[in-house]
Amino acid sequence: MLELARARAPGVELVLADVPLLPFADGAFDLAFSSNVYSHIETAAARAEFVADALRVSRELVVLEQAWRLGRDQESWELRRLLDGSEHRVFKRYLAADELARELEGVVVLASAEFVAVRTP
Ligand SMILES: C[S@@+](CC[C@H](N)C(=O)[O-])C[C@H]1O[C@@H](n2cnc3c(N)ncnc32)[C@H](O)[C@@H]1O
Repeated sequence: MLELARARAPGVELVLADVPLLPFADGAFDLAFSSNVYSHIETAAARAEFVADALRVSRELVVLEQAWRLGRDQESWELRRLLDGSEHRVFKRYLAADELARELEGVVVLASAEFVAVRTP
């Protein structure tokens, strides 16, 4: 992924890390953007830690996730098959915009059929 990103955005600094803790100083950024990561965090405590760490390094956080809709499990362990043929079980939640806004104590900035996004604080 980093190789692809490097090719597409030459000159941009890219950092690989397990989070938390983000390897950045307190208040280093104006805005943090998280796409389809929050919904893979299994416990409420770990989700709260993820959000707190993002808001430690950034003034604002935008979290984008796939939207829940009728017929979709709200949360489950999904079997994902990669192009190399390997299979992985991943925890996944699908979120309604108001539910995500409540969890993050933020405001809805996107509520489409496929994606929801919330900005916090
Ligand atoms: C569904 S992918 C989303 C990738 C990308 N953000 C996007 O929207 O296309 C979830 C990503 O979260 C990463 N991830 C999950 N838990 C993580 C953790 N604790 N620290 C860092 N990355 C993590 C996974 O490696 C994976 O690349």
